[in-house]
Amino acid sequence: MAQRIPEEVIEEVRHQTNIVDVIGQYVQLKKSGKNYMGLCPFHNEHSPSFSVAEDKQMYHCFGCGNGGNVFKFLQEIEGISFPEAVAKTIDLGNLTVDWSLSSQSDRSNNKEDSSHTALIQLHEKAADLFQHMLLNTKAGENAFGYLKDRGLTLEQIEQFQIGFAPKERILLQQVFKNDAVPEEKIAASGLMIQRDNGEWVDRFYQRIMFPIKNAQGKIIAFSGRLLEEETVNTKEMPKYLNSPETELFNKRTTLFNFDKARGEARKENEIILFEGFMDVISAWGVGIKHGVASMGTSLTNEQIQMIQRVTPNVLICYDGDRAGFEATHRAIQLLTDNSSLDMSIIHLPEKLDPDEYIKKYGASSFVELVHHGRETVFTFKMNYHKQGKNLDNETEKLTYIHEVIAELAKVSSIVEREMYIKQLTATFHFSEESIQQELAEHLAKNRQTRQENRETRRQEQHIEKRVVQEQQKRKIDRIEKAERILLYRTINEKAIQNQLNQLPDFSFVHDEYQEIYQHYSDYMLLNDKFEHAGFLDYLQDEQLKKVFIEVSYLELDEESSAKEIADCLKVVQLSKIEAIRRTKQAELNEAKQMGNQQRQEELTIEIINLTRAMQRNK
Ligand code: GTP
Ligand code: MN
Repeated sequence: MAQRIPEEVIEEVRHQTNIVDVIGQYVQLKKSGKNYMGLCPFHNEHSPSFSVAEDKQMYHCFGCGNGGNVFKFLQEIEGISFPEAVAKTIDLGNLTVDWSLSSQSDRSNNKEDSSHTALIQLHEKAADLFQHMLLNTKAGENAFGYLKDRGLTLEQIEQFQIGFAPKERILLQQVFKNDAVPEEKIAASGLMIQRDNGEWVDRFYQRIMFPIKNAQGKIIAFSGRLLEEETVNTKEMPKYLNSPETELFNKRTTLFNFDKARGEARKENEIILFEGFMDVISAWGVGIKHGVASMGTSLTNEQIQMIQRVTPNVLICYDGDRAGFEATHRAIQLLTDNSSLDMSIIHLPEKLDPDEYIKKYGASSFVELVHHGRETVFTFKMNYHKQGKNLDNETEKLTYIHEVIAELAKVSSIVEREMYIKQLTATFHFSEESIQQELAEHLAKNRQTRQENRETRRQEQHIEKRVVQEQQKRKIDRIEKAERILLYRTINEKAIQNQLNQLPDFSFVHDEYQEIYQHYSDYMLLNDKFEHAGFLDYLQDEQLKKVFIEVSYLELDEESSAKEIADCLKVVQLSKIEAIRRTKQAELNEAKQMGNQQRQEELTIEIINLTRAMQRNK
């Protein structure tokens, strides 16, 4: 049953909220004119076309067309229902509103979502079962002991909903059978595999289970860590086993703990990248909660964009071993090529991973390292290029210096560059001039590539923009353009509304505009003040909302002019006459075919009159 929220509550929540503050928690916004702009969280883009209008309490993306008020934004970004979005707005703003969402049972019943919802429910159920096995059964005792030994607290186990899948491979099998889960759902979930004889058995067994959640905190997959045991031959089994890709789970767009880390990362103004889930969880345990990990693969472009929407700063904290070192180098490359994110690096000693470091040196030592033990990208590169070289050998030393100077040219801060040059001259006894000279050559080369890249980028943006413009243009003809202006003016100027009201047979040509116009009139009878965000809740139809948002975002002169209105009215009027003339013309053709002489004459006169009326109106 859908829970109805009283209108007054919705209105009060809206009034107590500033959409800029709410969206600002998800998207980096920059003031631009009277609106705020940012990268759209609903589609992938490089130049901002996502606009938030503080005065109207609305948002709109010129690229993908998504738009609405604060509730719509939360519904979209969190994947929640309208009542949940209202509740969330109350939460986010710490509002004192005398209402609470007492039941979460109101799930949006969007057809498209319902298959996903069912699969998510299977995953949630599986997670509950796995956790039950871990915490409350004999079968889970070893696993629980193992986690305890690794230093995990009950709080961490519960926060991350960690569980255990026992060795028999029948846990989900039996429960899903009992629940009569249809076979196609089981297949689609990726939680089970089918044997040759057709029997379905649990995919995950003898593993510590880590739920993987989407950005909305819903479980969409699992990663299971093998728990070694004498009674099971675990030799051939991988340490970690992930769910396969399903309609819910796409490795490329998933970051472990992103749902929880996102808010923390905004507060901390950075996100931390770890290699392993256990590192994320251990760091969380010592109060460092803005950590995420990719799915055991190198960073994807999608993940980089996810991060970029949250914060401009990344701290890479990979394992201290050789593999971690290489992975850091790769991550720096990917981040440099695909984002404008600022990076710093934590290099862990003794080949330790963060989890092992915390265990060995304690929480406060790790926290200290995260805050004060960072390296710059350049320092990392200096160490990276040292690998495999004997710097006592003249040739190798020269190669090294060349590599390092090439890296130095990528450092944009002059002060920082100076510092490194001093460091290099002191360490390697080169003259400052020779380093400066070689650096200058690199800088010149880089400037040229940058220039070329900028040029390409500009062309790409130009095309991107033209495509968007053309999409919009194709849809909007002269008539609709006039209707948009009229609607905009009606909404913003009482005088225009009165003017239209007094025209005896004025109506919009397109139904959508006429409907919005009528809803607007009704709304103004019920409310003494017009509010864009409130009107959006009042309009029920999605298409009408969309048109209304587009109209609201028109960039027109501050005030209407008599000429502007007259021109628009003329276009609308003309198009109506034109439409009538077209039907008359069709009738005339028909009359000709039927040989109806009298009708032909009548229609011809009518058409002549209509044509004259059109010429008068031009
Ligand atoms: P622990 O041994 O439990 O401490 O694991 P860890 O967190 O130290 O993981 P490790 O550094 O070995 O690996 C980092 C990440 O790579 C893990 O979190 C997994 O996502 C992934 N990974 C590691 N081993 C495997 C494997 O055998 N198969 C797959 N698919 N992924 C793996
Ligand atoms: Mn580890």
